[in-house]
Amino acid sequence: MKALKPKRSARQPYDKTDFPVDNIRRFLEPGPIVLVSSAWKGRTNIMTMGWHMVMGFQPSLIGCYIWTENHSFEMIRRSKECVINIPTLDLAPKVVRIGNSSGSEIDKFAEFGLTAVPATKVKAPLIGECYANFECKLVDSSLIRKYSLFVWEVVKAHAARSPEFPRTIHYRGDGIFMISGANTSRYRRNFKPGNL
Ligand SMILES: Cc1cc2nc3c(=O)[nH]c(=O)nc-3n(C[C@H](O)[C@H](O)[C@H](O)COP(=O)(O)O)c2cc1C
Repeated sequence: MKALKPKRSARQPYDKTDFPVDNIRRFLEPGPIVLVSSAWKGRTNIMTMGWHMVMGFQPSLIGCYIWTENHSFEMIRRSKECVINIPTLDLAPKVVRIGNSSGSEIDKFAEFGLTAVPATKVKAPLIGECYANFECKLVDSSLIRKYSLFVWEVVKAHAARSPEFPRTIHYRGDGIFMISGANTSRYRRNFKPGNL
């Protein structure tokens, strides 16, 4: 039976049509774009990444999708370490170029004029120009083969104090970024304290 198309109303203001399921990432993607730095056998590399998610906060766990064809994949799988770096809008042109080149052909720190700063708990370098850097160690490799999903524990974090809300960039797919904008605490009073 054909589903009835719901009427638009004040409470349901959107006129919706079928949407391709293979494209719903457009709506879910916009966490900040990050740069993942790695080191293996004396070489370093950087890749751009949009597909990541928080999986826990104590311990601090992050899941990342890393495509097998990326040069970073084997460097990161073998070293079991990486740094997740948070770039801001000023770095957008480099973020795109880093994501459109391969560390098998170039040294991305040198090519894009970025500073490799030694990390404290992992061999992969921090990217000095980024607003924040999270040193990560692999805690679960069981989903790599099936889903290319690396589960990381953040073992050390470095973050700038100012500005309080950096202008991060969020990928919508199709070459479009959303730039982080207005912030509000208007709804804060509705939170359970434990969920803040
Ligand atoms: C905006 C953007 C987002 C990307 N997100 C991911 C991602 O989540 N996972 C991934 O494996 N590759 C992602 N890529 C592709 C890699 O960054 C790209 O393949 C890169 O060139 C890999 O570098 P490497 O071969 O030196 O490791 C993204 C690229 C761009 C431009």
